[in-house]
Amino acid sequence: MSTPETRKQDVEHPSQDDRSRHGRDDHALSARPQDRTPVLMARQLEKTVGSGASAITILKGLDVEIHAGESVAIVGSSGAGKSTLLALLAGLDTLTHGELALFGESLSSLDEDGRARLRAGQVGFVFQNFQLLPTLTAQENVLLPLELSERRVDTEQARQWLARVGLEARVQHLPKQLSGGEQQRVAIARAFVTQPALVFADEPTGNLDRATGDRVADLLFTLNRESGTTLVLVTHDPQLAARCDRTLTLDEGRLHTHDGTTVPSHGPEGVDR
Ligand SMILES: Nc1ncnc2c1ncn2[C@@H]1O[C@H](COP(=O)(O)OP(=O)(O)OP(=O)(O)O)[C@@H](O)[C@H]1O
Ligand SMILES: [Mg+2]
Repeated sequence: MSTPETRKQDVEHPSQDDRSRHGRDDHALSARPQDRTPVLMARQLEKTVGSGASAITILKGLDVEIHAGESVAIVGSSGAGKSTLLALLAGLDTLTHGELALFGESLSSLDEDGRARLRAGQVGFVFQNFQLLPTLTAQENVLLPLELSERRVDTEQARQWLARVGLEARVQHLPKQLSGGEQQRVAIARAFVTQPALVFADEPTGNLDRATGDRVADLLFTLNRESGTTLVLVTHDPQLAARCDRTLTLDEGRLHTHDGTTVPSHGPEGVDR
């Protein structure tokens, strides 16, 4: 089981395996030690929502493994369960059945507080509907994860992140005074402010015009490359998906690679490019 220190080390000083993987060297990937702890491992995930006659099982025994420094796109039709899956993988929601581990720690043994502690400072989340707190300014929304992770609350840091997403002139605005795309960018700044090892983003460019979306995507992939931030993105945008190391399609409650293989297939055949 990895400690926070070894995880940090993995992120800051990627191993030769990581570098090979980023170089898309499938042969090197096949030589990856199978015992390396993934950042995220899900086995036989099931999620049923609703109850009685209206109960539906959205995820039906889904498996996935994601390693440090990867960028993974999750695609699929509207209603396929992508947002549901992302919330589960981030430990924001509870499984009906299955096993899920983040950073080598099983979430099933943790209560809500335990899951929140595991996420704090290590996991960033960009919600599809942003979920900014309406009574807080953009800057205050961005500062929130620092407060929750009991880190030093540094308003300059919040300003810098807002500037990186092009919102230096909107720092003191409330969400209702911001456009949808501006709110989305505040949500992205908030997800990154703690410099988490793992970021989940649900359609992070869904409300942005192409130029702004490209700029936000450039930022995401720069952080992925330079800081080793592992990215798990849900997107309907094929261009954004194509920039990720691999794309997985959610269909019929399970993830598939583009050649139709159900995830995971161990070794390089599990990677679709
Ligand atoms: N709490 C709930 N109660 C009942 N049904 C739910 C609940 N949460 C999600 N669903 C249903 O589960 C399905 C999957 O929803 P989800 O939001 O995960 O889809 P999605 O793939 O993210 O879609 P989109 O691309 O439109 O965002 C939908 O049919 C939705 O109506
Ligand atoms: Mg969704």
